Amino acid sequence: MSDFVNQFWNWYVILLTAVSIIACSVVLWSQNITPVSGKADTTGHVWDETLEEYNNPLPKWWMWLFHITVVFSLVYCVLYPTLGSFQGVLGWSSDGQYAKEVAKADAETKPLYDKYLAMDLSALAADKEGVETGKRLYLTYCMQCHGADARGGKGFPNLADNDWQWGGEPAEIVETISNGRMGVMPAHAQLGAETIKDLANYVRSLSGLPADSLRAAKGQEAFNSVGCSGCHGPDAKGMHALGAPNLTDSIWLYGGSEPTIIETITKGRNNQMPAWQQFLGDAKVHVLSAYVLSLNKGTESK
Ligand code: HEC
Ligand code: HEC
Repeated sequence: MSDFVNQFWNWYVILLTAVSIIACSVVLWSQNITPVSGKADTTGHVWDETLEEYNNPLPKWWMWLFHITVVFSLVYCVLYPTLGSFQGVLGWSSDGQYAKEVAKADAETKPLYDKYLAMDLSALAADKEGVETGKRLYLTYCMQCHGADARGGKGFPNLADNDWQWGGEPAEIVETISNGRMGVMPAHAQLGAETIKDLANYVRSLSGLPADSLRAAKGQEAFNSVGCSGCHGPDAKGMHALGAPNLTDSIWLYGGSEPTIIETITKGRNNQMPAWQQFLGDAKVHVLSAYVLSLNKGTESK
């Protein structure tokens, strides 16, 4: 509350709080007057000839609940920061409360993460408990983009298919998650619509999709002469160092229809995997890497 610029707001809050509590008490006490017994007071409403609505005081036990709330608020005002800039006698503050809780949780889980960090990544990927921890982290930090089942979506790679843009070796996965990745496929509109269509047909033929064979043949030439092979490799099997995907498989980041491939080549694609090392620290990145690795167990790396 130190950001009150002048005393006006301080006293404004104190006054408002005090007046509210006093007003509540006054209303409560005013209800406390029991009418002298005799003929019961009625509101004058009569139904069905003899049914009258009485105007009796509220039950005592119920009234006491209200009195207790007034006492509670007075005690609260003394203990906690309620009245303007008064800090309360307990000195409690919400300031730094979150950081304190995070630090406490980190301290509690540190021995566990230290144990995981000391484990070899492949061994951790086979450790049931470690993988479960990794899954929980995954569902907190990664699911929004890669999906709950890690199977990705358009523009977000599937992490469970053992097909890697940036490499599936343990060290490569750790690097990807730690420092993020930036996939850049340059725009090639300058090649002209015809050449781009040829290239799209060639790319489709590589994955065994129906393609115009004449265009595919011309596209193959262009693939090497205009520089596609510089990034995707002469065999079009991709290059991990640049994040250039393998174009010969049936796995697509954006899609394998002719119009989609034409769009990819014409306009290019930019894609970013965020970096996590600074935010999560080495141990959590290690456990997440093991989780990603575990998703691909039993399938051959591509
Ligand atoms: C904001 C969205 C977003 C979040 C959150 C995100 N990622 Fe990614 N991730 C991407 C994108 C986009 C790519 C592809 C980058 C590219 O095309 O170069 C990617 C790529 C990857 C790759 C490389 C895949 C390959 O084929 O080489 C891995 C591994 C990965 N992410 C793991 C994770 C993990 C683990 C987390 C959680 C800590 C995470 N990602 C959170 C968007 C995200
Ligand atoms: C500078 C390197 C570079 C060059 C040159 C390049 N690409 Fe790419 N290409 C990439 C990268 C990196 C990606 C992945 C983009 C991403 O992560 O979003 C990509 C993605 C693609 C895709 C999308 C694949 C999918 O799964 O959806 C196609 C198709 C493609 N490139 C074809 C080509 C063709 C054809 C050429 C030549 C005209 C070419 N690329 C030139 C780096 C390159």
